[in-house]
Amino acid sequence: MLSRRFFLQALGAAGTIPALPRGVRAALPVLEAGASRVQIAPEGYSDTALWTFNGSFPGPELRFAQGERFAWRVENRLETPTAVHWHGIRIDNAMDGVPGVTQDPILPGTGFDYDFVLPDAGTYWYHSHAQSVEQVERGLYGALVVEETDPPEVDADITLVIDDIRLGDDAQIIPDFDNMHDRSHAGRIGNVILTNGRPQAEYQVRQHDRLRLRLINASNARIFELGLYGLAGWIVALDGMPLAEPEAALDTLTLAPAQRMDLIVDVTGEDEAFLLHFDRTGGYAQASFRIGSGTRARREPPAALPPNPDFPIDLANAVPQRVLMEGGAMRGLSEAMHLGEVLTGRQLAEKGLFWALNGQVGRDMLPLLEVPRGQSVRLGIVNDTAFPHAMHLHGMHFAEVLPDSTLGPLRDTILLAQGETKELAFAAHNPGDWLFHCHMLGHHAAGMGTFIRVTG
Ligand code: C2O
Ligand code: CU
Repeated sequence: MLSRRFFLQALGAAGTIPALPRGVRAALPVLEAGASRVQIAPEGYSDTALWTFNGSFPGPELRFAQGERFAWRVENRLETPTAVHWHGIRIDNAMDGVPGVTQDPILPGTGFDYDFVLPDAGTYWYHSHAQSVEQVERGLYGALVVEETDPPEVDADITLVIDDIRLGDDAQIIPDFDNMHDRSHAGRIGNVILTNGRPQAEYQVRQHDRLRLRLINASNARIFELGLYGLAGWIVALDGMPLAEPEAALDTLTLAPAQRMDLIVDVTGEDEAFLLHFDRTGGYAQASFRIGSGTRARREPPAALPPNPDFPIDLANAVPQRVLMEGGAMRGLSEAMHLGEVLTGRQLAEKGLFWALNGQVGRDMLPLLEVPRGQSVRLGIVNDTAFPHAMHLHGMHFAEVLPDSTLGPLRDTILLAQGETKELAFAAHNPGDWLFHCHMLGHHAAGMGTFIRVTG
């Protein structure tokens, strides 16, 4: 098991809030959304005004056992409505946290009780789903970890929430959340990259330690290209779901907005190891590990994580649905439907709307698709735009249908490069109205979102 001392040290300032012991009846624990100030920029600069959960940035890491009940109250101490989405949890629809779809917004000064069971082990996250371009950027997000009953043996279990935000010279968030260029291009890309709310996360490890790294991309729109230095290992889960077999983490690891990746790595370096992110100018440390001397030798590759409940996909009898993504800079929309009206591209742009799914801009009254519970679905997605998009389905995980008609790993968010076509398949096992939208949050706000209805 992981060393308790290391675990506490690694969590550092963000801290962890233990789940209520089972069987204890008490007032619900509270996640309070409110304003607070956090020192993000280096010493000498001002602290930064943020919106946080419980004053912590990121919000407190919530840890539960698989199968446990999550019962927390969210209180809104902001001056604007909010709601919290539990990203990747195969949740009861009424608890999904989407204002206008699954609940009313949580008005300032009021609260909402979230109460659901956590069916799957893995790495998830929670974030505001109201005005999310602004609210996630300002800090309303945190990690949600569901532990396996029989977890893999590691020396430390480390969550690394990666974000990028757009700060001005005064170290304050630049409040241009409606920026038309961002909305119609790649989304809101920041200029300051953070790990667990700080410019860099630092850890002390020993040579040959085995670490579980839980990577979460909480940024508005940045696609991270990550690399390991002085660490060698395997990808064991994507978007919370275990891979059937651990996969060697050899190349650059791509993490699109909202995606997660669980790695099990061994410390192979001598003095220092890093999780790096790469951009055009080079590699930068997101997390650094100072290496003390260890005694252990290297170990055998890890076994696969225990599987989560399975909802088999019946490809042969799946209902096909095409999804055409259009719009954005360079391609534009000549005209599209918005709230039951045909509007020209210019009229849409005046409303800050740039993206369409099947000719529809923004969520309409009608779902993209309605299927009975238990039906399998194939979504053929064509990205006919000049930008990449990270498409997220609420409530159910999907698999990519690979060219040889086999299924890839289960995911809840998938990246489509510009011009790319991908086919996804899922078993519609969870009844309710489920959003399907781009997790480049400015794209969603600018029209790239719809929903799928599962009846029965
Ligand atoms: Cu991570 Cu619709 O959300
Ligand atoms: Cu997008």
